[in-house]
Amino acid sequence: MNDQLQNNADAYYRLAKKKAADYFTSLSGQLANKIYATTLTKDIQTWKQNHIRYNSFLSFFSHRKGKSDSRGYQTYLRWLDSTGKLDAYLDRSISYIYLRDLGKSLDSPQTRDRIRHVVEDVKEHLPLSGTAPTEGRNKLFTIAGLYRWAQKAGVASTMIWLMDKLKAVSSKIPAGMDATEAKRKLMKIIAGVVMHRIEEMGEGVPAEERAGKLDEAIRLGYSYGLTYPFIDDLLDSGVLSDEEKNRYTALIRTTLVTGSVPALGRWSGKNKELIRFIHSELREAYTYIQERLQHGAREGFLEQSYVFFHSQEVDREKDLSNAYYSNEELYIPVILKSASSRLIVRSVLSASEDDGFDNRTFFYGIYNQLADDFADMFDDLMAGAVTPYTYYLKYHSARPDLINPFELYWTVISHLVHNVYHSDTKTVEVMLTRAINGLKRFKERMGDDKYGEVMEIFATGNPQFDRIIQTMVRKAVDVDFFDKLLRDHIIANFSDEEEEREAFLDMVKTVRGQINDVLHIFEDDDASFVEEPIIDAANYSLQGDGKRLRPIMTWVMGVHEYGLDQSAIMPLLKSLEYMHTASLIFDDLPSQDNSTIRRGCPTLHHMYNTATAELTGLYLTQKAVEEQASLDKFEPESVLRLIHYSAGKTADMCRGQSMDLNSKGKKLTLEQLNTMCFYKTGIAFEASLIMPAILAGKHESELEALKRFAYHAGIAFQIKDDLLDVEGDLASLGKPTGKDAENNNSTFVSVLGVEGARKAMWDHYCTAMETLQETHHKTTYLKHLLNYIVNRDS
Ligand code: IPE
Ligand code: IPE
Ligand code: MG
Ligand code: MG
Ligand code: MG
Repeated sequence: MNDQLQNNADAYYRLAKKKAADYFTSLSGQLANKIYATTLTKDIQTWKQNHIRYNSFLSFFSHRKGKSDSRGYQTYLRWLDSTGKLDAYLDRSISYIYLRDLGKSLDSPQTRDRIRHVVEDVKEHLPLSGTAPTEGRNKLFTIAGLYRWAQKAGVASTMIWLMDKLKAVSSKIPAGMDATEAKRKLMKIIAGVVMHRIEEMGEGVPAEERAGKLDEAIRLGYSYGLTYPFIDDLLDSGVLSDEEKNRYTALIRTTLVTGSVPALGRWSGKNKELIRFIHSELREAYTYIQERLQHGAREGFLEQSYVFFHSQEVDREKDLSNAYYSNEELYIPVILKSASSRLIVRSVLSASEDDGFDNRTFFYGIYNQLADDFADMFDDLMAGAVTPYTYYLKYHSARPDLINPFELYWTVISHLVHNVYHSDTKTVEVMLTRAINGLKRFKERMGDDKYGEVMEIFATGNPQFDRIIQTMVRKAVDVDFFDKLLRDHIIANFSDEEEEREAFLDMVKTVRGQINDVLHIFEDDDASFVEEPIIDAANYSLQGDGKRLRPIMTWVMGVHEYGLDQSAIMPLLKSLEYMHTASLIFDDLPSQDNSTIRRGCPTLHHMYNTATAELTGLYLTQKAVEEQASLDKFEPESVLRLIHYSAGKTADMCRGQSMDLNSKGKKLTLEQLNTMCFYKTGIAFEASLIMPAILAGKHESELEALKRFAYHAGIAFQIKDDLLDVEGDLASLGKPTGKDAENNNSTFVSVLGVEGARKAMWDHYCTAMETLQETHHKTTYLKHLLNYIVNRDS
């Protein structure tokens, strides 16, 4: 590496370190003279006017136990609303975000205006009672909700890009790291960058320009956010060997010092593929940021990044068994990393110079770091990580010279609110509320006894101050924050979804196995004296590697939703797969799509001949009716109704295939495309959901919502099929790709292009999800089915 460049990097690190050291000296001086305790005691006396109620046994908290699940989220927000506390709650929460994430000063009238505006906006999206279930409400933090937001903001393509990226990243996160956590962190960083961009734009930017700027912010956020899982968390984890860590660290350092990403070179060992992926992803991200940095911003970005990286490095190398770190060694890297990580957010955006922002952000960082490290102290201790808290826990008796991080935390608060934010009333209110809230949450999590022990260790040595804080932790009310509620809600949702998804995949596996076991058609003895290949041919087609989605859907509705007896509806499950397999046999014929491979094997007309294939198709549709007519555990009227419905739908499907063949080379309208896809594909999805409802004797009204869902899910399925025809591969699909282009077929891809097709698919996905929300069914399986449909690669 170029020595001169390394010298430059060292020089600005030294400069940053000097600034951090000065800050630390000022803080430790303030800590030593104890003025913070007197000042904050006074502040708390005022603060408590709004937070101590002497009838606080009425407080909601006495009723609220455990972490908020998704119901807790809604219940709590409604409770706030009904008691008239919602506005203050949102105001303090949004104000806090403006302080912490946007580096604003709350005494500015513009900032106050913006906060009011955002509070109103957020309220619009909350699931409050008496509010209509408008688009976006209640589900902003689902994929469908985010996608709808992106559509409105004109960044649908960017959102699709991001979803693909997140999928790729989380599939690559190795077992020794937490993929969900990586995704959550990335989303958080992206949200932070997007917020900055929105603030910086203000109102009145024309829609197109706005969309362009949001697109860039999302991509920049992702590019910067990637460094969290792939640099910091990766190096913290035990995934890489020491040698790999050194090499990897050197690579990052060279990038930040020279401003360009070196080639990876040879990398052997079990992490080869992971490192290759990370290297290429980080290089792309880095290049993206570099290209967008406006004149003059490049230097600042590299400097901040280097300071961030190097200070983390210094921190990471600390060893908890080393008893001799000085206070400076402990705190200066903390100041550096927490400040630089925040300053980078604005520098990636090439935001205009703002000394006020830079200053506030620089001073603010350590406050946040000390709050986070406080909350995590026992996890960190277990992991053997050195943080001010873990180090103090371990050495405070032996080292009376060590600064008490909890005392420093209060010193920082006092310094911030009075020296940095000029004693602004609102800032004092928000910061104290946040501090008390942090302690309350910690106490709730640890239990009273453990909390008491911790507080004894970290007592500041100002009995009056310690006492008032503990009184506040016990008695203060109205100290909650929306971002915390949201975080709990999102984490709870993530893990619920993950559990549900696993249950769904288990179910799919089990039911698929059961269906596979009964599909085989046995020879009818009477006819066996003359040879004919149809039954073998039918079994050949049925045996292949089919997903069995349609009978699985029927099982979900029939058995899971309506409680029908599994063995009683087996004939229905079989009939659906017979019918579907027949449709594939016809579809592959030379007269139709002329395909050579299906379900991983040669198509039927290749294996036998066209005549046999045609007859087998017809044979299977008739076997399907035969199965339906043997549903003898149900009311005959229902079965008759089912057969009538099924025959009509099969006829409709034939029309769908005919539309498809007739539209070769034509530029269909979107409406025509939707109709064609519904007829050729969506109808089978509808039938899979409706037929069990008919058997369960459900009324037409019940069927309507299911039909709407099936319409959109079915079309989404076909669009994905069209996309896989250009983007998939034979090995996973079990059928050739490129058929549509070869046949000059009119598909979503040929009409709208790949990007347009993707957008259409996600739009149908969202509408299908929205219809699910309107039904009263236990819809988790259908939700996951839909996720599966759009994310599948086979
Ligand atoms: C393929 O259906 C035909 C279309 C409707 C696009 P599937 O993708 O469900 O095919 P198998 O049953 O898994 O083979
Ligand atoms: C087929 O659509 C629809 C049917 C119901 C058979 P495609 O022609 O796109 O199906 P694949 O791609 O061959 O499976
Ligand atoms: Mg076709
Ligand atoms: Mg085909
Ligand atoms: Mg296809």
